[in-house]
Amino acid sequence: MSVTQVEVGVGRLAALLHELPAAGVFVVADERAAAAHPAIGAAVDARTSFVVPSGEEHKTWATAEALLLALDAAGIDRDGLVLGVGGGVTTDLAGFAASLHRRGVGWIAAPTTVVGAVDAALGGKTAVNLGGGKNTVGTFHEPLRVVADPSTLTTLDPRHVRAGLAEVLKTALIAGGEAWDSVLALDLAFDLDDAWTDATVADFGAIIERCLATKLDLVTRDLHDVGPRRTLNLGHTFGHAFEALALPELLHGEAVALGLICAARAANNVSLETTIRERLKAWQLPLSPPPPARDVDALLTEMLRDKKRAGGQHTLIVPHAPGDVRVEEGVKETRIRKALAAVLEG
Ligand SMILES: NC(=O)c1ccc[n+]([C@@H]2O[C@H](COP(=O)([O-])OP(=O)(O)OC[C@H]3O[C@@H](n4cnc5c(N)ncnc54)[C@H](O)[C@@H]3O)[C@@H](O)[C@H]2O)c1
Ligand SMILES: [Zn+2]
Repeated sequence: MSVTQVEVGVGRLAALLHELPAAGVFVVADERAAAAHPAIGAAVDARTSFVVPSGEEHKTWATAEALLLALDAAGIDRDGLVLGVGGGVTTDLAGFAASLHRRGVGWIAAPTTVVGAVDAALGGKTAVNLGGGKNTVGTFHEPLRVVADPSTLTTLDPRHVRAGLAEVLKTALIAGGEAWDSVLALDLAFDLDDAWTDATVADFGAIIERCLATKLDLVTRDLHDVGPRRTLNLGHTFGHAFEALALPELLHGEAVALGLICAARAANNVSLETTIRERLKAWQLPLSPPPPARDVDALLTEMLRDKKRAGGQHTLIVPHAPGDVRVEEGVKETRIRKALAAVLEG
């Protein structure tokens, strides 16, 4: 059962900041989001707060410890509230600290990136990176509310917006039906490097709402990620391998874009693969990996790395068609090699 209330809309963040009580609320904000949006900067200044330095390299135990010490120093008690405002790095850290402080306090996620808004903020998975692995230490601690204000996205680096669109495509592919059709029909024919218009902000509001509805449904049915929620890993088994080998050249969403092409090849669905390629191309996402991530054997090793405990077998999320995405166990290496060829042959 999910406990999270989801709110999406322009002006929602300002309204949230206005309605929260003056005391007992601790703000955890992304450095760039706070600098770019006066309302976030003002909340940081006016309340007890912690600013998360920009970048995945700060999603560490050390940052979490500094944040926990700040929560303690601020005297946030069991009735207190943590508000995480930023991308996935910030909301993962805020939720993680909220789950540990005084054995758990409530928290609200206010995502300010596309990845954050369509994915990271919702679902209660919190984590930091430890020991060279990603999200190695974490908890399940659902936010009380997810408040996504699409107007916060306008200050993002366009490359981060595009990377987020790969996660949008993934979610729509899982949902199928109207969600898939609407993403294909989406006329994002604007240049993301240009100024955002109100219409573009509204488009993103609609995208976020749809993605969150799909994710909320999966999370509600399977909070602990042992059943249908696993389909959200679509494109990620391949994606993580590209990401690990190409860092820092590929953003997470860019790696997922490549992973979606491979997944469609693994499903042997030629028309779906073509459709995915066309969409990604229109959004200027990569269709093939950079040189460090073009070695099939190295990619296979990466793909098996965190699956060793599961007997060294490949588990793959396979999109047979939009709305028909299945978890397949015991997938043979030859099938994975063929799927990787989808992005390496060009
Ligand atoms: N918990 C989950 O279920 C889940 C799901 C998906 C991803 N994640 C995690 O999310 C993280 C990736 O999230 P992300 O892509 O949002 O990365 P991020 O949090 O690093 O944000 C991307 C960049 O945008 C900047 N930024 C944030 N908001 C901004 C704004 N409004 N204007 C200008 N710049 C802004 C940040 O400083 C950063 O440089 C990863 O650590 C990943 O593991 C978690
Ligand atoms: Zn992802």
